[in-house]
Amino acid sequence: MAFPAGFGWGAATAAYQVEGGWDADGKGPNVWDTFTHQGGERIFKNQTGDVACGSYTLWEEDLKCIKQLGLTHYRFSLSWSRLLPDGTTGFINQKGIDYYNKIIDDLLANQVTPIVTLYHFDLPQALEDKGGWLSVATIESFNEYARFCFSTFGDRVKQWITINEANLFALLAYDLGMFPPAIPHQGTGGYQAAHNLIKAHARAWHSYDSLFRKEQKGMVSLSLFAGWVEPADPNSVSDQEAAKRTLAFHLDFFAKPIFIDGDYPEVVKSQVAAMSQKQGYPSSRLPEFTEEEKRMIKGTADFFAVQYYSSSLVKHQENDKGELGIFQDAEIEIFPDPSWINLGGIYVVPWGIRKLLKYIKDTYNNPVIYITENGFPQGDPAPLDDTQRWEYFRQTFQELFKAIHLDKVDLKLYCAWALLDNFEWRQGYSLRFGFFHVDFEDPERRRVPYTSAKEYAKVIRNNGLEGHP
Ligand code: BGC
Repeated sequence: MAFPAGFGWGAATAAYQVEGGWDADGKGPNVWDTFTHQGGERIFKNQTGDVACGSYTLWEEDLKCIKQLGLTHYRFSLSWSRLLPDGTTGFINQKGIDYYNKIIDDLLANQVTPIVTLYHFDLPQALEDKGGWLSVATIESFNEYARFCFSTFGDRVKQWITINEANLFALLAYDLGMFPPAIPHQGTGGYQAAHNLIKAHARAWHSYDSLFRKEQKGMVSLSLFAGWVEPADPNSVSDQEAAKRTLAFHLDFFAKPIFIDGDYPEVVKSQVAAMSQKQGYPSSRLPEFTEEEKRMIKGTADFFAVQYYSSSLVKHQENDKGELGIFQDAEIEIFPDPSWINLGGIYVVPWGIRKLLKYIKDTYNNPVIYITENGFPQGDPAPLDDTQRWEYFRQTFQELFKAIHLDKVDLKLYCAWALLDNFEWRQGYSLRFGFFHVDFEDPERRRVPYTSAKEYAKVIRNNGLEGHP
């Protein structure tokens, strides 16, 4: 009836989305500080993360929420530019170290295991100014930062995520230009950034492996965003192929090099090469890894961290005009099933998570899997009695239960997004994902539990749903 003994129940946040204190105590600016301060209506009501949930000064309040839920794990991210204001170890901000030391120590004192993300979308502006993730130099900067974090916090942190949703981030920031630096390079920037992100992750993993693992005995991975996809017409072979290509371009694009053989999926290589040729490029827009790089990348993850929010239908969409873009290269069109419930822009498809987990098990040799994010938003104003939203969490837990017991997926941890309502990137404060409501007008940023918080606490206490399945 219950989840396996020792199953991890967590909740997550990310530095820029909750901390505030954007220029407090020597923190350097990052790309989200710059982007939000530029205005221009790209973000809901030009809102910023300058104060957000105020977690930089209100950590004790966050800890109370964590204890109220009874979390076994808390996932949060370090702000790179709070620790290293210009992105390099040339100057180290002790106040930043103190802040994260306190979080880590308080968690451990309360028997909560920290899962620490090194990088959750917030590149120090100084590094963006030098080319950001389009530049190979950022690989070494990231490695330097990762080593600094392992050596500073790794005596107590044993579970590390190098880069959050590296795949979605490359697309949003450097291909579509929706996230800072917000300069679209459709069909080229996403691949270039992804190439550098994969190498940066692998370098950091090797640093851990060779310099810290023996003594610290921790685990390092990166988290990947993945939606499940179904062929729009299940009987159409071309839609079935399109569904496979969608997973290849989104999830396998990062997962295959890292978990299998150091290289991109064949279908991605051949599609991009063919399309590039059609467009008159002298070579494929998808960069290639050298043999040495492939060896360096292969096998650089100690568990599979996946973040699932929703699913889509997909159909083949021929790119006969040779248009530029990742979806265009994949020749897919994705859309929701009209019967799915739309909650704050996310289509609720709890069964998709089970299929995704099975796919990861079958494709990646039955790895240990952590769900490092999953959640459901409410629009603002959000009722404290969020019974409907809780129902989706409940259905999700039923699916996880089946994945573990029927599909024999080695799922060890579930982290919900998010501990608190927070700054939801381009949606600002208009979408609320928290177990705790935060009043962003209130200078004290009081945290008040939603119904979901009370229900989640029960699930954690019982290590599963009552009366399950
Ligand atoms: C990100 C979070 C974000 C969440 C909800 C994920 O893509 O990692 O930062 O808030 O989705 O949209």
